[in-house]
Amino acid sequence: MINIPDLGSLHSKSKIVFLSGAGVSAESGISTFRDNGGLWEQYSIYEVATPEAWASNPELVQRFYNQRRKQLLEVEPNAAHLTIAELQQHFDVEVITQNVDDLHERAGSGKVLYLHGELRKSQSSADPALVYDIEGWEIKMGDCCEKGSQLRPHVVWFGEMVPMIEPAQELVAQSDLLVVVGTSLNVYPAAGLLHVARPGVPIIAIDPAELELHHFPAAFHIREKAGTGMQKLKHHLLGKG
Ligand code: APR
Repeated sequence: MINIPDLGSLHSKSKIVFLSGAGVSAESGISTFRDNGGLWEQYSIYEVATPEAWASNPELVQRFYNQRRKQLLEVEPNAAHLTIAELQQHFDVEVITQNVDDLHERAGSGKVLYLHGELRKSQSSADPALVYDIEGWEIKMGDCCEKGSQLRPHVVWFGEMVPMIEPAQELVAQSDLLVVVGTSLNVYPAAGLLHVARPGVPIIAIDPAELELHHFPAAFHIREKAGTGMQKLKHHLLGKG
């Protein structure tokens, strides 16, 4: 039995919103950003994840995301992704992910909102509304959209608008339970989504590290990795301890 809030009032029509970050994919073998050895220790955000980086060295930016995409094709969803998908059988589950990987979808989650874009898609560097599926792992310099502009990764870089933030806020505002999995809550506007939950709606965070949650009196922290933390939450939700 874990000492988490009573969730006994939740039923099959209750909306559970998961807000996931890099930690949910860590056990699949994808590096997080801010842990020891994380991606932002190996690369500078400013060299690979900003519009300025793309303007000054598009080859480097393209190579960085091509490598991420190549790695994504070699990994599989883990127990946490699978448990979140499994909960769809019992609740109205929505996933909001900051991750650009597709592991929630590959695990079977039917409703996934991508806050920071999708690694397996490209977009026109002239018109962000032109988005395409990528065959394989590589966008090559010289690959162009239908208007003749170079294709870039379909990811939201630092300093760019987050077009999906409003639909994400709407989902959180409708939630009966908000579960935050594997995110350091360092990046806005994503981290601000916790403020949108209605008063009294429980917030459960699953993350092995300490998190800044003192603004959220309704928050409970399961200090575990995503796989075991999700397993415990599932048992609790389904009344099995
Ligand atoms: N299970 C659960 N959580 C884990 C695990 C694990 N196995 N391993 C690490 N974590 C946690 C870390 O403790 C940390 O709190 O995952 C979190 C990862 O935090 P970040 O690396 O900051 O990733 P994230 O919060 O997703 O970053 C947000 O920042 O760089 C941008 O656009 C990028 O979407 C990303 C955004």
